[in-house]
Amino acid sequence: MERPLRRPKNLLASSAALGQPYAMRVLTGIQPSGRTHIGNYLGMIRPTLELQGRGESYVFIADYHALTSVSDPAALRAHITEMAVDFLASGLDPGQTVFFRQSAVPEVHELAWYLSTLTPMGLLERCHSYKDKTARGLPANHGLFAYPVLMAADILLYDADKVPVGKDQKQHLEVARDIAQKFNDAFGPVFKLPDPVIRAEVATVPGTDGQKMSKSYQNTIDLADSEPAFRKKVMGIKTDSTPVDQPKPQDNSTLLLLAEALGDAGLLDRLRSQMAAGGTGYGDLKKQLFQALWDHFADFRRRREDILREPARVEQVLADGAARARQAAAATLARVRAAVGIAP
Ligand code: ADP
Ligand code: TRP
Repeated sequence: MERPLRRPKNLLASSAALGQPYAMRVLTGIQPSGRTHIGNYLGMIRPTLELQGRGESYVFIADYHALTSVSDPAALRAHITEMAVDFLASGLDPGQTVFFRQSAVPEVHELAWYLSTLTPMGLLERCHSYKDKTARGLPANHGLFAYPVLMAADILLYDADKVPVGKDQKQHLEVARDIAQKFNDAFGPVFKLPDPVIRAEVATVPGTDGQKMSKSYQNTIDLADSEPAFRKKVMGIKTDSTPVDQPKPQDNSTLLLLAEALGDAGLLDRLRSQMAAGGTGYGDLKKQLFQALWDHFADFRRRREDILREPARVEQVLADGAARARQAAAATLARVRAAVGIAP
């Protein structure tokens, strides 16, 4: 059943501009700051695509955000294309999802400015991501500090209801809600308050060293890895030194957490019972995990090969998505400008 927006008519959201009422708008973004890994896929890409078709979907490549960590233009360009290819190969359907580059809608900065005039410094000072990134050596510049405001603008510009993300982004979603609420308190009911969609079993997919899998920790297993590289990484997952014949500890086991995140119940049961019984070494357990993961991405790899042969099609998909995204953005900005008194 399609649910009409509960909002005063003159503030009607972009559904009208797109010509369709919508039941739910799902939106997410990903930074093109490196290669896509299975943490990105299981934590964010797959949950997003599972919602595809159940409302409107918006997915964008957060290239403005990536400038906070990538300063090599050639690398940024390559990552943008690679990210687009990986999303399409994962099953993003441009007929059902508005897929675009963040920078194709520069109006997002205008909204970010309105929002930043209402954003308390303390809200941003509390953000873990800023503290973690500066602790890892990223420059403590204004872009990195204001990152959550731009992210709030990304979400509010498109009237998102649901935002699928990994757990590390939860606080940024809280900031977006806070800012939206402050804006609504000051200027009337202009924005919806977005909800994060975070799945418990994939909230934090561990990397090969047992920490959160992340491009920044060199512990990733990448979707586009060759078979030898993929196998080597799975076989290199850090385990303890329990002898082969002994039962293996299961609490916080990276192997089990990965099997669970994959959602392969058969594999999970098998690994659990072999670990409980003893007699199976970590090498054998890892081989089973490798096979399940590698097989899971067989379709992805096939589609990726096909898409790579048609780079012009990828550009066309992003250009079409940008045109649709700009329409939605224009409608929101008209509302916002009127609300703050910038427009007559
Ligand atoms: P990275 O930490 O590798 O730089 P990003 O910040 O680009 O990853 O994350 C892109 C999306 O993937 C975000 O929604 C993030 O929450 C999700 N994500 C990243 N790593 C993981 C992980 N290890 N487990 C679950 N989700 C993740
Ligand atoms: N900050 C997100 C990340 O690092 C990327 C992102 C930018 C995003 N804007 C967004 C995610 C809006 C969801 C909604 O992964």
